[in-house]
Amino acid sequence: MDWLWAAIRWVHLLAAMTWIGGQLFLVLVLLPVLRRTLPSAQRTLLVAQLGGRFAVVGWIALALLVVTGFLNGERRGVAWESLPAAQSTYGQVLFAKLCLVAVVIALTFLHSQIFGPRLTRLATQAADNDPQAEAYRRRLARLSAIVSVINLLLNLVIVYLAARLVS
Ligand code: HEM
Repeated sequence: MDWLWAAIRWVHLLAAMTWIGGQLFLVLVLLPVLRRTLPSAQRTLLVAQLGGRFAVVGWIALALLVVTGFLNGERRGVAWESLPAAQSTYGQVLFAKLCLVAVVIALTFLHSQIFGPRLTRLATQAADNDPQAEAYRRRLARLSAIVSVINLLLNLVIVYLAARLVS
């Protein structure tokens, strides 16, 4: 049985690495280079395509985190229905972690399913030289970048809470 629990924990860790490592690479490596090398409309189009591909990987990772996270909790005998009123530090930390995971899932949906497709459409239309559409595209691109940075910071807090769970 221990090997099975180790495998579940392994999948939880790998999914967390893929999800957060991918975001860190985008924000710390890819975007700064693209900002220096590509004009704005072209950059938005390329980032939207990369984001679309990473969204698939991200949703699979988030689904795996929820399933293996639930199993992790089952192993620890977590009383899910009374988690909001947990007295133990483990329960309180896990509840705080799950609240942040819910916010992360909502922000990921907003970013990948609403902002992403809209930015792709606007970047494709950028050739029409409509200054109003261009101004809107730049504002939406900035808002989208802010949402993705907030999402990344929340994920880093989730990992800190997770470290508290297992220490
Ligand atoms: C963005 C989503 C999530 C991330 C980044 C994340 C990350 C982590 C990490 C890095 C660990 C430490 C693993 C270890 O050292 O064994 C962990 C542990 C844990 N996670 Fe998550 N997790 C996420 C979502 C969830 C969800 C949705 C649940 C519950 C439904 C969950 C439940 C747990 C539990 C119970 C543990 C502790 C396991 C133990 O006590 O051994 N996690 N998580």
